Amino acid sequence: MQVVVTGSRGKVGRATVQALVDRGHDVLGVDLVRPVFDAGVVVPGRYVMADLTDAGSAYAVVAGADAVVHTAAIPQPTGNPPHVVLQTNTMSTFNLIEAAVRFGVKRFVNVSSESIVGNFFPERPFLPQYAPVDEDHPLLPQDPYALSKLFGEQMMDAAVRRSDLRAISIRPSTVHNEDNYESNLGKQVRDPSNLSANLWSYIDVYDLADALVLAAESELPGHEVFYIASPDNAGGHDFAEILRRYYGDAIELRPLDRPDASGISTAKARRMLGWTPTRSWRDYLDADGRALQR
Ligand SMILES: NC(=O)c1ccc[n+]([C@@H]2O[C@H](COP(=O)([O-])OP(=O)(O)OC[C@H]3O[C@@H](n4cnc5c(N)ncnc54)[C@H](O)[C@@H]3O)[C@@H](O)[C@H]2O)c1
Repeated sequence: MQVVVTGSRGKVGRATVQALVDRGHDVLGVDLVRPVFDAGVVVPGRYVMADLTDAGSAYAVVAGADAVVHTAAIPQPTGNPPHVVLQTNTMSTFNLIEAAVRFGVKRFVNVSSESIVGNFFPERPFLPQYAPVDEDHPLLPQDPYALSKLFGEQMMDAAVRRSDLRAISIRPSTVHNEDNYESNLGKQVRDPSNLSANLWSYIDVYDLADALVLAAESELPGHEVFYIASPDNAGGHDFAEILRRYYGDAIELRPLDRPDASGISTAKARRMLGWTPTRSWRDYLDADGRALQR
């Protein structure tokens, strides 16, 4: 297939381009970074620099594609003024969907976020109602980033209502690669009292890329939403025990498929996408959360 990967120079985009190229797809990467000519930088696939908040640019890159994998975004509500986060994420998604619908693209993979629940960047903090969190959990965003992800998923719903486009939204947990496992997850591996809104969950960027490839190749109709997280928690702690220790009865404990379970359930992705994660924090860190010597 001809697959457009937006945000192709970002953490998730880079891994996704490589995974799609490895599967034999013809990939066009799109990002804000200026292309380089013969400067010793080897990037798989083809590449176009484009700002996707511009509708014309979105149309230009989507023309001729079989599938779009949309990872481009400002991936947090901090670091940019709130209206810039909302405008960038919402308009880039809107423009790409418009182009995909008008050009008859078959598959749109929308990278959403675990933050869509709303408890990651709230002005008025709250906890998830139950754990592991799954696709039935209420979405209660307060911040512009989570709101942009909710609007993105709603735009996917609208697109499949009005066209033959098939859409999949992937909600990754916090994403880690070889460069940042230790800085991001090390302290939680050492000590689960370092709490996170996602209840000690995480995802390896290459397992996430595998899920995005499966989504791009999927024949599922309509618009389906999937959480993607590693099956274990950061540190391999006894999930029921640490949930009770740090949250008491505030979060309802639902059945677990393993004692060291993640705070996010990916049962739906395994069942409907056929996704089987193969990496773990243990491939990068020791039991004390320090980087393994490679
Ligand atoms: N990193 C995480 O922990 C995490 C967790 C859940 C969801 N996500 C989502 O995954 C996706 C990828 O995140 P990431 O961690 O790779 O972020 P990243 O910042 O590394 O990559 C995002 C890329 O999008 C590009 N981009 C931003 N605005 C653009 C525009 N207007 N036009 C074209 N390109 C633009 C950026 O230049 C960047 O290269 C995002 O949608 C993010 O919200 C990330």
